[in-house]
Amino acid sequence: MRLVFVGPPGAGKGTQAKLICSRWQIPQISTGDMLREAKANGTLPKELVEKMSKGGLVPDEVVIDLIRKRTELPDAANGFLLDGFPRTVPQAEALNELLSSKGHKLNVVVALQVPKDLLVERAVLRRTDKRTGQIYHLKYKPPPPDADLEHRADDQEETVRNRIDVYEKMTADLLPFYEKAGLLKRIDGVGEVEAVTQRVISAVEAAQ
Ligand code: AP5
Ligand code: ZN
Repeated sequence: MRLVFVGPPGAGKGTQAKLICSRWQIPQISTGDMLREAKANGTLPKELVEKMSKGGLVPDEVVIDLIRKRTELPDAANGFLLDGFPRTVPQAEALNELLSSKGHKLNVVVALQVPKDLLVERAVLRRTDKRTGQIYHLKYKPPPPDADLEHRADDQEETVRNRIDVYEKMTADLLPFYEKAGLLKRIDGVGEVEAVTQRVISAVEAAQ
């Protein structure tokens, strides 16, 4: 099973990805998480740290390289879920090449759709547990008292709004690209987490 999750900041890609990956026993590959890890390790170049903290995208070749290396690891041999990659048509074309060189193809591209005001509220009140990677929300999914919480550097309201604008501009061509390929499933991302998961599961099963 090879899946892609597309959607604006705060749409619930990470939340849903964890549930879907545990159901199908595939790794979640998040370029955002990989870039934040590189930043924490001090291996992300300073200009890219700045770009991310302002909510801009990092260059295509940087994330394509990350994906190429990560998908070659043994745990990704039988499938994976890409969370937040691709975001541009050149990234999608590079992914197609990467997959077809191994005789593989994508099963489905899930686009999570959530109105802008909800996106802002979701991202600004998000907190992540540093030790477990679990994603919480101060209103919708309160963290337990012993959680070691982190507030993402790019989750300030102004930056979130900028990230949504960047998503709309940079990703506009991506959905028609996958629609033409017959791979796109638009999913309503509003409602209880479990209800959204059920919609995603139905879409994935229909594509198998
Ligand atoms: P990335 O980490 O991918 O961030 P993003 O796309 O902005 O998405 P988020 O992680 O903010 O949201 P999400 O959809 O995962 O939502 P979540 O499940 O956490 O990328 C970060 C940066 O890295 C980019 O800005 C860019 O600089 C760079 N980058 C990454 N990939 C790149 C690429 N391919 N090309 C170039 N640059 C790249 O949920 C959000 C909150 O909502 C949580 O608090 C959660 O608890 C809550 N929530 C979730 N679902 C529900 C629900 N149904 N009801 C109520 N609350 C909910
Ligand atoms: Zn995420």
